[in-house]
Amino acid sequence: MTARPRIVLTRRWTAEVERYLAERFEVTLNEADVPMGADALCRAMSQHDAICPTVTDRIDRQVLSAPDRRVKLIGNFGVGFNHIDVDTARELGIRVSNTPDVLTEATADLAILLLLMVTRRAGEGERELRGGRWIGWRPTHLMGQSLEGKRLGLIGFGRIAQATARKAHAAFGMRIAYNSRRRVAHAIEAECKAEFIDSVDELVATCDVVSLHCPGGAATHHLIDAERLRRMPRHAVLINTARGSVVDEAALAAALAERRIAGAGLDVYEEEPKVHPGLMNLDNAVLLPHLGSATQETRTAMGMRVAENLEAFFGGKPLRDPVV
Ligand code: DGY
Repeated sequence: MTARPRIVLTRRWTAEVERYLAERFEVTLNEADVPMGADALCRAMSQHDAICPTVTDRIDRQVLSAPDRRVKLIGNFGVGFNHIDVDTARELGIRVSNTPDVLTEATADLAILLLLMVTRRAGEGERELRGGRWIGWRPTHLMGQSLEGKRLGLIGFGRIAQATARKAHAAFGMRIAYNSRRRVAHAIEAECKAEFIDSVDELVATCDVVSLHCPGGAATHHLIDAERLRRMPRHAVLINTARGSVVDEAALAAALAERRIAGAGLDVYEEEPKVHPGLMNLDNAVLLPHLGSATQETRTAMGMRVAENLEAFFGGKPLRDPVV
């Protein structure tokens, strides 16, 4: 009997997926469920046939070049893979897969949640009530902004942005604009009722809400900087469910503190789990701890999608979701 492939999960996954994998592979779990440092990742690379990391792991050149590396596949748990040095993986002949599709709706839902929380001042209201400061109903209490007819501008227009656009248009009657490196097919624009805007500067200057959906990495680092925040209208709101590095957090904290924009809803941060201290006490910032895909169903579906890629790879078939 041939030995079963050895795989390592760098964090705990749902019980259902861990059980499924244990029936098919020799699985090493990170029982403590704390992020693995470079040394632990290097050891894991030399002791397993596949590693299944996630956004909290830095799979850089040093880790990929671990002495006596045995890993041949990186089955990433997550759609974003900017924490993996894919160029080095390619150079070393290590395959990489991710988990697209299955987290689209959950992440779009979270963008909508942030959009509502910021524009309806839900976080402020809840803090006021829990803090015992609510003095009762009055016509001018915590007035927010309506969404009907407002313009939502999406930066990046992949699956999650398109789902966000569809929900915002269908549920709230928002008008949709987007910017992305490539214009999408006319049929997708028609389905999402989306208008292509050729320039990020124009998009941020002309939208009531800007929602970020582009990948992390060098090309999008601080895409939203002090200058672009200055271009946004004073009543505008920024939503980020993409990657923290897309926004200059210090510049955002300053813009929010000076009320140069109305608010921000963030699910991701430049140096997770650290959050820029300037954001922490601002009433007009809604801050969530990277919950985009955090539903029981979605996290299980993500794990099962990694499992599909592992089974394909070790069964000698093409990867379902090849990145490299
Ligand atoms: C993703 O899938 O990219 C989520 O942000 C978790 O990494």
